[in-house]
This record gives sequence, structure tokens and C-alpha cells, in this order.
Amino acid sequence: MSERDKSAPPIRIAMLGAGTVGSSIARLLTRHQHDLAHRVGANLELISVGVKDINKPREGIPQSLLTQDLESVALSRADIVIEVMGGIEPARTLILAAMNAGSSVITANKALMAEDGAALYSAAEESGVDLYFEAAVAGAIPLIRPLRESLAGDRVTKVMGIVNGTTNFMLTKMDEEGAEYDEVFAEADSLGYLEADPSLDVDGIDAAAKAAILAELAFHTRVTLADVYCEGIGSVTKADITAARDMGFVIKLLAIAELISTDDLEDGIVVRVHPAMIPLNHPLANVRGSFNAVFVHAEAAGEMMFYGRGAGGDPTASAVLGDVVAAARHRVLGGRGPGESTYSGLKVLDIGRAETRYYVNLDVRDRPGVLAQIANAFAANGVSIQVVRQDGHGYEAGLIVRTHRGSEAALRATVVQLESMDEVRKVVGVMRVEGEE
Ligand code: NAP
Ligand code: HSE
Repeated sequence: MSERDKSAPPIRIAMLGAGTVGSSIARLLTRHQHDLAHRVGANLELISVGVKDINKPREGIPQSLLTQDLESVALSRADIVIEVMGGIEPARTLILAAMNAGSSVITANKALMAEDGAALYSAAEESGVDLYFEAAVAGAIPLIRPLRESLAGDRVTKVMGIVNGTTNFMLTKMDEEGAEYDEVFAEADSLGYLEADPSLDVDGIDAAAKAAILAELAFHTRVTLADVYCEGIGSVTKADITAARDMGFVIKLLAIAELISTDDLEDGIVVRVHPAMIPLNHPLANVRGSFNAVFVHAEAAGEMMFYGRGAGGDPTASAVLGDVVAAARHRVLGGRGPGESTYSGLKVLDIGRAETRYYVNLDVRDRPGVLAQIANAFAANGVSIQVVRQDGHGYEAGLIVRTHRGSEAALRATVVQLESMDEVRKVVGVMRVEGEE
């Protein structure tokens, strides 16, 4: 540090929560104290840590800093308040109080940002403080800052990725080891991967919250969790995964936000989370285990992929500490980070407007003319067939139909028609196919 930096008052940091992420933050703050001071131009000093139970042993956090009085932490007038407790309340009230008291806030809380990010942005604006949340999406992977800052001069058209490590771990195990859903769920549980409420992972809600945050930043329009179409992985079977592999595909839980622009209908965006088949040669197909990766397509930049660890104490703390350095520099040198950018007012459209390819697995009657009738049902709804394969596994006659790109609305209408046909014994499965032009 320069002589001037040595005389700079320390940057005071208060923290709400000291669990998996918070304890890593505290440890790394101490371990990298010297480097961080140089990068910021002032020492960083942890002044208080709010937790539920002050008697839990917490390595690296002096007992004297721990308190159960979370309001006192929020109102400490620290330069920076880090929120890593999670959940909507009391996190929201505490963050708003901290900003109101003049503290910049750094949060890893995707649930809160996806539900009420607007209130947080507005409080940050009113108090002239920073709001950073890099760790809220895809853990260690720099993704929020590239969208908020690096790509601010471009026009993003699509964001597509794997943003939930737990479900990616489960689907990878099912694919590579031929394991059943229940077995991999139990393994994810035993490894401590599942959220306290596992439905947040397996029903896609965690991924949907992250998709809402990414969509809002990418398209400069307000998006909340309620705007995201969401299907989890609960219905994916070993048979689906084997069928996908036989055709050269792998099944991943994808979060997709894309701009939809057609001549005849209103422009907008569709934000969706669901399992999808992607070709084995697609870069996302090789994102295995609990890793995350996100593809961003921007008009001028073209395609970019961001890959890394989406969860875990240290990886998430790395993202939080990057935000700490940014906010601390503003305290030392002046200035503020970016605020809310929702000027475009694009509408969030119904999933029916999304366009993709589809895989449809049918159990049909084995008699002359059936194939023609089925082809007619697709044609009548404007869905063009790419490949038909006879695949009799356990059925009177099995048909796998893969389509060209079509709208979700058209595909749904096709499925309704197929289900009403005497020739079709059962629509066994329908899955979207992504990553093919
Ligand atoms: P965690 O291990 O459950 O820790 C939560 C901490 O907050 C604990 O220290 C707990 O106190 C404290 N806390 C929670 N509710 C409280 C309340 N009502 N009053 C007082 N203290 C309370 O959670 P985590 O995994 O570190 O996650 C923290 C945040 O980071 C969440 O928003 C999560 O979504 C986000 N995040 C986590 C990861 C990850 O890999 N874990 C990745 C990305 C983002 P006690 O210790 O006394 O129980
Ligand atoms: N449950 C989340 C996941 C944690 O599995 O990715 C990180 O946000």
C-alpha cells in the first residue's frame, strides 16, 4: 500500500449469515487481507457477523464479532453489508435497512433478487449506495458483471445455460452410470448438494430464479420468478436418457432467456427452465457433475460461454469478494456501480411463443396408414417433421418423431390432436431439443 493508502480509514464490513458461504468469506478475508488492502487502497475490517446461533463453533470468526441481533448488524453503518443468510425475510428488511443507513450491500441471495430485486435497486438508488450480487447466479462464474458492464454496449439475444449444479450432478450420474432418479437423488442428498428444501433444485425453482436475474440483465426489462416458465427434472427417466443417447443427445436442465421477434406478433422475451435434449457435440453437453455453464449470444460479440463452479463455500465467496473489492474501491475513490437497467420495457411472453425443436415419443397402433395419419397431425398444426424412427420398445409399435423448429403453441396443439387419435395409444414423452440450428 502507498503511504496515502496506509492512512486511509479502513473499510468496515458487516455480515448477515456465517454458514457455508459466510464462513468462507470470513476465512478468505483474513487469508487475503494484505492483497485485498492493496487492491482496494484501504484495509478491510470485519466488524460484526449476525447469525442464528452464536454458540455454534465457527473457525476463523472471533466470538466477539458474533451477534444474534441482526438489526444491529444491518444498522451498523458499515461501509459494506454482506447478506449471506438466504431466504426472503428477514433478509429483505435487513438489506433495505442497511442501505437506508448508508451501507453498500452485497448479496448472494438469488431468491430475493428474483422476487423483489426492484425494491433493492430502488433503495440503493435512493441512498446512493452500491448493490452487487455476482454470487446469486452460477456461484464463482463471472456472469452478472459481464452482462451488467462488459456487454452494456452490445445487444444480447439469447442466454442459455446450466445454472443448477445439483440437478446437473443428478442428470450426469443418470447418463453416465445408468442410475435411476431415486438413486441419484439419494446420492445428491448424502453429498449435501440438495437445498434444505430439495424441490428448489429438482423442480427447477432455483434455476428459474437465476434465469429471471439473467433475463432482466440481458434484456433490460423487469423479470421476476413468477414470469419464468418452469419444469423440473422429476419426470426424466432412465429410459428418456437412454433414448436421447441412442440418438446422439444428452438431457440437461436448461435455463433459457431469449428475445422473440416476429413480423406478425408483439416482440418480447421468453424465459424458461426445463429439461431439454442437446447434441452430444454441443459444449453444454460436456458440462458434467455439479459444474455450471452459460452461453450468451450477443449481436456484435457473437457466442460466449462462461464455465465453472456454480456452488460451494469458497467458489461463492470468491464472487462475493470480487463484489466487496468493487464496492470498497468506490468508498475509497468515489463513484458507484451500475444501478437497475430496465428501460426497454420488453414484455415477458408466454412459453407458447418460444420456438425450438421437439422429440415426441409415441405408442401407436400397428396397422396400415398410421404413419400417414400421424404425419398429418403434425402438418395440420404447422409443425414440420425432421426424422421419424420406428422404435418398438415394449409398445404395439413405437414411433420417435423429431421435428424442425416450431412454436411451443403449435407443438402443444399437435400433442392434443395426437392424444385424441384412435391410432395413438399414448403420447409417451415430449422433450424440447436445444442447441441445434
Ligand atoms: P447456510 O449455510 O444455511 O447459512 C446461512 C447463515 O445465515 C447461517 O449462518 C445462519 O445462522 C444464518 N441465518 C439464516 N437465517 C437466519 C435468521 N433468520 N436469523 C439469523 N441468522 C440466520 O446458507 P449458505 O449455503 O451459506 O447460503 C447463503 C446464501 O448464499 C443463500 O442466499 C444462498 O442461496 C446463496 N448461495 C449459496 C451457495 C452455496 O453453494 N451454498 C451458492 C450460491 C449462492 P446459523 O449459522 O446460526 O444457523
Ligand atoms: N442449489 C444450488 C445448485 C446452489 O445446486 O446450483 C447454488 O446456487
